[in-house]
Amino acid sequence: MIFEILTLFPGMFIGPLNESIVGKARERSLVHVRVHNIRDYAFDRHQVTDDRPFGGGEGMVMKPEPIVRALEGLQREFPAPHVVLMSPQGRLFNQRIARELSRLPRVALICGRYEGVDERVGMYYAQDEISIGDYVLTGGELAAMVLVDAVTRLIPGVLGNAESASMESFSESVLEYPQYTRPQVFEGHAVPEILLSGHHEAIRRWRRGQALLRTKVRRPDLFDRFEPTAEDLQLLREAEEEDERIRGSGYPGC
Ligand SMILES: C[S@@+](CC[C@H](N)C(=O)[O-])C[C@H]1O[C@@H](n2cnc3c(N)ncnc32)[C@H](O)[C@@H]1O
Repeated sequence: MIFEILTLFPGMFIGPLNESIVGKARERSLVHVRVHNIRDYAFDRHQVTDDRPFGGGEGMVMKPEPIVRALEGLQREFPAPHVVLMSPQGRLFNQRIARELSRLPRVALICGRYEGVDERVGMYYAQDEISIGDYVLTGGELAAMVLVDAVTRLIPGVLGNAESASMESFSESVLEYPQYTRPQVFEGHAVPEILLSGHHEAIRRWRRGQALLRTKVRRPDLFDRFEPTAEDLQLLREAEEEDERIRGSGYPGC
């Protein structure tokens, strides 16, 4: 998979995308991240990439020509990239969209700055607009890094077996169950006993119940869309009863 990133601040990508899982995926050529400076495609003497908004108003708007020139260069190579404009006005990024993008061979991400990008870029040159949340960032770079990270870990071979993405939060509109590691007791707070039992089926049932309970409590919007099986309903009831039972004994609740 190839990510082509169009930005005015290429230096921002050096650290985050060279480390950890994304860094290793790049080393193993499972993903390629190519960063392009939009300014290199501004051919006037001062390499201007922004201008005042038509109709007046505060701030500057990114000009379409340098961005479109950069895209034209990318489109000459095969396969043509799926072009995404990072924008707070785009469709809200989630695990489903990450999965959708992870199946594409090449994705170009346009990072806006200032008051945003001339509207015609989104209308005529991008196939997609994506927002990473209902808040406004100073630029699209951090949003693009979030997207690259979430998509990369879904590419086959990127995560080892031990780090499988299939059980993670949102893999089926349910949050992941709680995770614990050593020490067994930390400052008086003990790990749930069932996890020490070595009884795999009991652990599976407990984890499923906990995952359902925390989705119901923390993300009722997700839970409402989820279709539980008869076993799910049973495990949820058991988790609710356990939660009720241990509340008040220093346990703050799910
Ligand atoms: C300051 S923002 C422009 C906001 C714009 N004036 C508006 O109100 O919609 C500059 C750039 O940051 C990026 N950006 C800001 N918030 C974002 C978000 N939530 N998701 C994705 N990109 C975002 C976009 O590329 C945007 O063009």
